Amino acid sequence: MMADGGYYSSKKTDDICEDVCGKETRAALSMSRLRCILRGLDFKTFMLLFVLIPTCIFAIYLHGQKISYFLRPLWESPPKPFHDIPHYYHENVSMENLCKLHGWGIREFPRRVFDAVLFSNELDILTIRWNELYPYITQFVLLESNSTFTGLPKPLVFAGNRDQFKFAEPRLTYGTIGGRFRKGENPFVEEAYQRVALDQLLRIAGISDDDLLIMSDVDEIPSSHTINLLRWCDDIPPVLHLRLKNYLYSFEFLMDNKSWRASVHRYQLGKTRYAHYRQTDDILADAGWHCSFCFRHINEFIFKMKAYSHVDRVRFSHYLNQNRVQDVICKGADLFDMLPEEYTFKEIIGKLGPIPSSHSAVHLPAFILNNADDYKFLLPGNCKRESG
Ligand SMILES: *[C@@H]1O[C@H](CO)[C@@H](O)[C@H](O)[C@H]1NC(C)=O
Ligand SMILES: *[C@@H]1O[C@H](CO)[C@@H](O)[C@H](O)[C@H]1NC(C)=O
Ligand SMILES: *[C@@H]1O[C@H](CO)[C@@H](O)[C@H](O)[C@H]1NC(C)=O
Repeated sequence: MMADGGYYSSKKTDDICEDVCGKETRAALSMSRLRCILRGLDFKTFMLLFVLIPTCIFAIYLHGQKISYFLRPLWESPPKPFHDIPHYYHENVSMENLCKLHGWGIREFPRRVFDAVLFSNELDILTIRWNELYPYITQFVLLESNSTFTGLPKPLVFAGNRDQFKFAEPRLTYGTIGGRFRKGENPFVEEAYQRVALDQLLRIAGISDDDLLIMSDVDEIPSSHTINLLRWCDDIPPVLHLRLKNYLYSFEFLMDNKSWRASVHRYQLGKTRYAHYRQTDDILADAGWHCSFCFRHINEFIFKMKAYSHVDRVRFSHYLNQNRVQDVICKGADLFDMLPEEYTFKEIIGKLGPIPSSHSAVHLPAFILNNADDYKFLLPGNCKRESG
């Protein structure tokens, strides 16, 4: 009478089990109980095969990236630490004194400064950047492509809005480059191609030996006093990274103080190449702001999510939903639902969950505070974005 696979007999076993397991009659113990245990096992095996395993696979599909990010400390060791150069600044301290505090001498006249960026569509942040740096810049060099790094066609946004930047026109070298539109290529290849073109544009702008060159993304903004210091002081390192405060969505959400990709170079003809990776160990502390995804319109967030070199992070199309994006911005959560990219469990756990709101708008680019009505969306307490 043991279950022999047929539908009828297993049905029968079910009935017996219900009877026996339900009432705890002593007489029914022995054989019947064994059957119940066996049936229980069958049921467990069934659960394992058809419920638990698929659920696990689905969970890994949904959260695999999180699991691997969480385990990062096991599979990746942290990059070599930077050599942090302390940064001294107060508006009432003379330049001579500031240079001396850094162990540098002062020059008789300042170096020329070139600020070179690859532009995508970030008009607001470019306006803030150029106003912040304007007093100390010899030439703003801006290159724009009609392709995103991920090979999507894009309009020449700067060209279409050039009249908003009249103040910078006398110091502007603007160039465009046609995208290559290779399907399925790694976005970093298109990015590298555009950076080579930027080297040529810098030559056209008239850069020469020992001029200062700022290499950074548009949203990595050195503070103007930092650039003023570096153009006046002698003996600064030939290549110096800038440590910037990392903000997300606006100056309400301070993620950490660890942005390092921006760098300043004493230009050497034939040697200096425009790059956005680590180039040296020296980094100057507290040198400005990196405001990622600091956009006015929801559509700009969605464009950036698709145009970005890490487009693989958009794993589900609902990530691009307007309401979801707005919610994520107001919470200070992650647009790609990812875990922090850190190298120790302590740091990962410390950064889990949304970024706490800050109420400080002290030491931000002056242009934002002088035009606060227009740039409210970047200030604390204004997370609601314009749609469209
Ligand atoms: C800075 O210097 C000016 C004049 O030299 C003085 O009036 C002012 O109080 C100083 N500010 C601070 C914060 O020390
Ligand atoms: C991009 O620009 C290049 C060069 O200006 C042009 O030949 C090409 O047709 C443009 N492509 C698109 C999709 O706009
Ligand atoms: C970043 O540095 C500032 C001081 O410049 C400090 O007040 C703040 O707590 C730091 N924030 C984080 C997240 O480390």
